[in-house]
Amino acid sequence: MQLTDNFGRSIDYIRISVTDRCNLRCVYCMPDTIKSGCHQDGKIAIDSILTYEEILRFVEAASALGIKKVRLTGGEPLVRNALNELIRGIKAIDGIEELTLTTNGQLLAAMAAQLGEAGLDRVNISLDSLMPHRYAEITKGGDFNNVMAGISAAEAAGLLPIKLNMVPMAGINDDEIEAFVSFGIKTGCQIRFIELMPTVVNEHLFSSGFIGSDEIKRRIEMKFELVPLKLRKYGPARYFSVTSRSGLEPHGTGVIGIISAITCRFCPQCNRLRLTADGRLRPCLYSNIEVGLFEALRTKASMEEIQKLILQAVDLKPERHNISDGNEEKSGAPFIMSGLGG
Ligand code: GTP
Ligand code: 5AD
Ligand code: SF4
Repeated sequence: MQLTDNFGRSIDYIRISVTDRCNLRCVYCMPDTIKSGCHQDGKIAIDSILTYEEILRFVEAASALGIKKVRLTGGEPLVRNALNELIRGIKAIDGIEELTLTTNGQLLAAMAAQLGEAGLDRVNISLDSLMPHRYAEITKGGDFNNVMAGISAAEAAGLLPIKLNMVPMAGINDDEIEAFVSFGIKTGCQIRFIELMPTVVNEHLFSSGFIGSDEIKRRIEMKFELVPLKLRKYGPARYFSVTSRSGLEPHGTGVIGIISAITCRFCPQCNRLRLTADGRLRPCLYSNIEVGLFEALRTKASMEEIQKLILQAVDLKPERHNISDGNEEKSGAPFIMSGLGG
């Protein structure tokens, strides 16, 4: 079965936020006012968080409609208990071809092997600095060594390819763009540079720190040769093979991705829906349109009823977002990214 929206886009990917909690406070993502540690301190009360049983019922309904790929996000998905059970359950659902996870890597070292055994296919890890003290500042307390240990454990567990998400911000970490490319060549990780997106918590940072993907690319090209790759099936990243210019270190070739979330909309190829931890189905990251599924899932509505709501969300999926790097049109934003999982 294939799910197609009103603009001819095939919808086969769902991002599921399993919690709005996070063990970090990245400057562009979380306001300081939301304390870490429990749902009540965030926006979502604990009894409003979907259970694994409810999420599995949702995935079953979505997969029968044509969803093939699932990504688990947060907040930080690894802070939710017994995530392996959910992974096992999703992998057992007919029609789900790929199950992935986006994490900050803090807890990954101890969990990677079990995640792989449960059926997780691969991980994307957020990493905004290769300098331990700077990493701690950007994440407000994260331990860089935990992420490094997490990358090694993910590699050992075969969660490949590992993609590292880096958000370059002027005056904060933009001097590390080249170092990240070198790190990718040395470790075999795919580095993805993501344009900073405006949210309710980062308006000031966005106006002073935004760097467009053309500028990111220009800086990389000063030291590396980039050749476009046709890796992009649907996702937001444009991929390139990257090799040091002659005579420059490091030797070897890597793969980088550039995600132009703002300057170059990938909306025409967008293939995804998002489910929040409290059961709201959002057809677009940057639109406030949503369809409530919580009631239906909590009251064990029939498959047909759940599917009707999913189809309603697909029907409401807007053609494109209206945010530009000039920041003049911000419909849909601002919002809190941590509740949506990026
Ligand atoms: P892959 O399957 O590995 O390509 O994953 P992905 O890029 O879909 O997932 P990831 O969670 O690593 O997301 C990377 C970045 O892309 C995040 O910052 C997301 O917010 C951004 N992104 C993902 N989906 C969308 C979207 O629908 N619109 C926009 N503008 N950005 C998105
Ligand atoms: N702008 C760009 N990327 C963001 N992420 C979270 N908030 C933002 C933002 N405001 C990224 C994280 C993570 C992914 C899920 O989303 O770096 O890798
Ligand atoms: Fe947590 Fe990810 Fe937000 Fe950082 S970007 S605070 S790791 S949810």
